[in-house]
Amino acid sequence: MIIAVDGPAASGKGTIARALAQHYGLPHLDTGLLYRAVASTVLREDLDPSREADAVSACGFEDYLLDDPWLRTDEVGKVASVVSAHPLVRAALLNRQKKFARQPGGAVLDGRDIGTVIAPDADVKLFVKATPMIRAQRRHLELRKNGVLTSLDKVLADIRSRDERDSKRTEAPMLQAPDAALLDTSFLSIDAAVQRAIAIVESKTRTADTPA
Ligand code: CDP
Repeated sequence: MIIAVDGPAASGKGTIARALAQHYGLPHLDTGLLYRAVASTVLREDLDPSREADAVSACGFEDYLLDDPWLRTDEVGKVASVVSAHPLVRAALLNRQKKFARQPGGAVLDGRDIGTVIAPDADVKLFVKATPMIRAQRRHLELRKNGVLTSLDKVLADIRSRDERDSKRTEAPMLQAPDAALLDTSFLSIDAAVQRAIAIVESKTRTADTPA
């Protein structure tokens, strides 16, 4: 079974994808980490993230880089959203993601274009969303826990500009696949959101199993 989980920053898609992978015993890929790995390489090598050729030259990273905690920082996240808009960067990371999705037994992948580009044939597609203010509050809290002091207004502005870049880019923009189930986590606890996601998977797979 392939489960595609898409949605914007701090919508809860990563938590939901991890929980679904654990629940169904499937391997999980956080595809945002791939763009973050490209971004971290661009930063480390002092390249220009807005130059496509520079970003493409950073796509040949080794898998172990994905475990680097620096990738999860806001600094790297912002640059990830810039490098991910380049069509050639997306093309360079495409096969890696498709291969992961198509492994025997299936997988859970989360990102922005899983249900639309990477696994349009996924058995279940979820689009996870929450209001920009609620996502900003979650991200702000998370940053504070990690000792990063910044204002809620600044986090909200960052979230809005990231949403704008991710949804306006011409190549694989963030959008809900027509056959994706919408899961709004704005007023749900983590547990409630995960339970809702499991219920969606169950209902989709039950429908698929029902003879016509
Ligand atoms: O959740 P958050 O947006 O903080 O981070 P992420 O999911 O790790 O993604 C970082 C950036 O990578 C996003 O802002 C997107 O621009 C990009 N991305 C993408 O373009 N396509 C994906 N499948 C996953 C991430």
